[in-house]
Amino acid sequence: MVEVLVTGGAGFIGSNFVRYALGRHPDWHVTTLDKLTYAGRRENLHDVMNHARHAFVHGDIADAAVSGPLVEQSALVVHFAAETHVDRSIIAAGDFIRTDVEGTFVLLEAARRARGLRRFIQISTDEVYGSVASGASRETDELKPRNPYAASKAGADRLGYSYWATYNVPVVITRASNNYGPYQFPEKVIPLFVTNAIDDIPVPLYGDGRNVRDWLHVEDHCRAIDLLIETGTDGEVYNIGGGNDVMNVELTKRILAELGKPESLIKPVADRPGHDRRYCLDTSKLRSLGWTPQVPFDAGLQETVDWYRRNDWWWRPIKEQDPAFRSYYQAQYERRS
Ligand code: NAD
Ligand code: DAU
Repeated sequence: MVEVLVTGGAGFIGSNFVRYALGRHPDWHVTTLDKLTYAGRRENLHDVMNHARHAFVHGDIADAAVSGPLVEQSALVVHFAAETHVDRSIIAAGDFIRTDVEGTFVLLEAARRARGLRRFIQISTDEVYGSVASGASRETDELKPRNPYAASKAGADRLGYSYWATYNVPVVITRASNNYGPYQFPEKVIPLFVTNAIDDIPVPLYGDGRNVRDWLHVEDHCRAIDLLIETGTDGEVYNIGGGNDVMNVELTKRILAELGKPESLIKPVADRPGHDRRYCLDTSKLRSLGWTPQVPFDAGLQETVDWYRRNDWWWRPIKEQDPAFRSYYQAQYERRS
């Protein structure tokens, strides 16, 4: 069995990756290490939690006593664990520094000691490039992160690189664009807008709504990571983008149309401070390895909207019963109105 450690495997992309990995690789034994923050949920892994080739460890990546031995026994590490929501990083950045930077440092220190480690995938983000006025970011472009989340991720991204350059740890860095799909926490724009609209609650569109994001289906992201585990080159960075550049206002209208809801639900609210206008990735490096996105955006969005419509058992407890989510929502959106 190939021992695979997935950090943050109870989150959105991590849980999709654990499911994908167990299905795709019968010779992998997957250990999920997750702190179960507000964004990490056992429910995200409900169908694989007791899988014979899956183990779940509740713990913090920054706790070397827990994460160290898990890294040392692994052949592959896929490091997703992070604080991930830009708006939360603007309210309070401490947890982002602790997990995204210090937590990554703790894992990399253990990776230095690991004897059988073949690959350490450092999951970074396209946000490290900052706002891109025109053209597409290439892996060699300067990093210009503009919010505390993006800056923390840039720190982790370069720490990973430094552990390859200095200690020969087999680190590969990925920078993906905005993911969408099932099990995404309903603070992010697609699940928030879909679930609000289902209940006829206004959808809070920031600023003029003309910011552009490039949407990547989470399964296409999983396929790219899988390919890079096998064929990536140590110390290299790979962009992963869906090639679906869409303005937020256009995305919002598509969601409402999909649900048969009126555009009058759109509520323009105050903009996010330092809101990056546009991200766009040049993905030719990854494509040269044989990857292309498989999920067309129209079909992927339709399927995703449908998933949230059919799985309100998953999101209603968060939105309706979790006091932490309710107070976050009030704090975040009341001042914007
Ligand atoms: P998420 O917020 O849904 O999940 C993060 C997971 O990490 C949660 O399960 C949480 O409990 C866990 N976690 C947080 N702190 C931890 C700690 N100290 N120790 C152990 N576990 C901890 O995030 P996501 O959207 O699935 O993102 C996963 C990764 O992908 C992140 O590194 C993020 O920066 C990156 N990324 C996300 C996107 C996107 O669009 N969602 C795009 C590019 C890159
Ligand atoms: O680009 C990759 C990044 O994508 C990841 O690294 C982050 O972890 C992930 O959270 C995501 O960041 P964004 O800030 O782009 O995602 P979010 O869903 O928060 O916002 C997407 C766009 O929608 C952004 O332009 C802000 C806007 N928005 C968001 C929310 C939550 C709104 O207009 N209204 C909202 O209520």
